[in-house]
Order: sequence, then C-alpha cells, then structure tokens
Amino acid sequence: MKPTSKIAIIGVGQVGGAAANAIVLSSIASEVLLVDSDIDRRDAQVQDLSDVAYSQKGVTRVQAATYEEAAQSDIIVITAGSRHFFGQCSIDYTARNVSMVSNIIKSMVPFKASSILLIVANPVDLLTSIAQELSGLPRHQVLGAGTFLDSIRLRGLVAASSIDVYVLGVHGEAQVTAWSMTKIGGSPIAKALLPSSLECDKISDECREKAEIIMRTKGSTPYGIASVVASTCTSILMDKRNIRPLSHYQPEFGCCFSLPALIGRQGIVGTVHMPLNDEEKAKIDNSAKKLKARLEAIHK
Ligand code: LAC
Repeated sequence: MKPTSKIAIIGVGQVGGAAANAIVLSSIASEVLLVDSDIDRRDAQVQDLSDVAYSQKGVTRVQAATYEEAAQSDIIVITAGSRHFFGQCSIDYTARNVSMVSNIIKSMVPFKASSILLIVANPVDLLTSIAQELSGLPRHQVLGAGTFLDSIRLRGLVAASSIDVYVLGVHGEAQVTAWSMTKIGGSPIAKALLPSSLECDKISDECREKAEIIMRTKGSTPYGIASVVASTCTSILMDKRNIRPLSHYQPEFGCCFSLPALIGRQGIVGTVHMPLNDEEKAKIDNSAKKLKARLEAIHK
C-alpha cells in the first residue's frame, strides 16, 4: 500500500538530513518536507535526498517547504540546534536552543489539529516541555526523542538482543537505567546470570557518556538519532502501539521527560508507570523537579 502521510523536518543539517534519509529509506511517507533557515543548504538536501527517494522507487517525494507549509504535516520533527558545540558553556547552549525552538514553533502556529510534534534538539526534555506550551497542540501530540536512543545503546552495551531494558527520566546526566525492571528472556535480571550490580553501574555510565564521545569528534549523533526518528514516525503513522521511552508530559511534575509510552496515531496513547525501586524513583523525581524549576525560571 502506498503511504499517504506527510512528514516535515525542521533543520536539515547533519541530524535533520540523516533523519530525512532514514524516513525516505523506510518508505513510510508520501512526502518529506525539508525546512531550514539556510535556504541553500535546504535546497541541496532536497536534491541529494531526492536521489534516495528515486532509489526507493519514488514512494516518497522530497520537497522544500516553508514553516507554514510544514505546520500542516502529519508529523513535524524539530532537529534545529541538534549540533552540540563543545567549549560553549551549557547555559549558553540551552539559551540558544530554547530561543531557536521557541521561535520556530511560534512561526509555525497554528499547526494542523492532528499534527504530532517530535522534538530531537537538546536539552530535549526542556525543549519538549516548551514546545508543548507554545504549540497549542494537545499534550499527547507533543513528544521528544528522550531516552529512546539511550535505551537502544544500553541494549547494545549489554550485547543481548532479548533484554528488556529502559533508560528513563531526564535525558543526559540525570538519566536512570531501570535495572530493577530489566528482564532477560522473561526473567528479572537479578535472577539471571548477568550483570553484577557493579557492572550495571559501569554499563549505565558508558551509555550516558556515549553521546558525548561521539559528539566530541562529529559534533552530533546523526545516525543513532535518525534511526530513533524513523522508528517513532513508523510507530505513529502505522498506529503500532509499541512501548517506547519517549519524552512526554508528566502531570505529576508539570514537565516532559521519558517514561515508557504507548505510541500510536494519536501520539502518546498511554504511559507505563513501572514499579521502580526507591533509588531509581527518587533519582527520576529529583531530576524532574530540577527540570520543572528550569522551566519556571525561563518563564520569569
Ligand atoms: C544523543 C543526543 C542526541 O543522545 O542527545 O545522542
């Protein structure tokens, strides 16, 4: 069956370009709209990605678009500001991205009523919370990449494909691996052979540091994030109802961060409230409160 959906990518540098490429290769959309403040870069990406589309029998049409046109898409992926500048202090980086993403959203309002907004830029949980406030869309239609990629990384580090493990909370320094809920082959990890609690901490640290190690050399993590974007868009457009650790609104805290979410055509269909152990829960609660305080400071 030919796809009929339209996906827009806002910001088509390394990350946005890779995300568009992964979406075109997945053949899930009839149109991919590219938007960028740098018109020459946008048009060059349209040309390059059109070749990918032809290689996929032309299922997807890649086109340049304005912010207004993009706002009428089924899914809008905001990657602008995904490149991390090392050496630039993180307050500067955050302020720059808050302002960039806020301006982008303001210039796109009103969105199509059923649009799903997917935020990729960092700090992803803060930006998702802001996007939700500014977009005018229902809360369940605004989500962020959150700790989805971290959860994939963790699975890779444990080198077990049948492991059921989630990295949750606020993406970055404060993210938490839900080891107490981890299962291998259906058994709780504590009852299985691997890994020891010491190894668990080491694996979580390695997972947390992986993005920074990649970014130090490349400036961004385009391919990892692109696979997460394509997978999330597939879950949404095909109403897959799978569980993904994506950033979404948590009413108890008044901000967005990652808990396992049921994903479908409406966006976030439900949240899985895992019975985490006290330590994991306290860490997540603590970072969520800090995030809320940052959000309030921005509003002042
Ligand atoms: C990462 C960046 C995108 O985790 O936050 O790769």
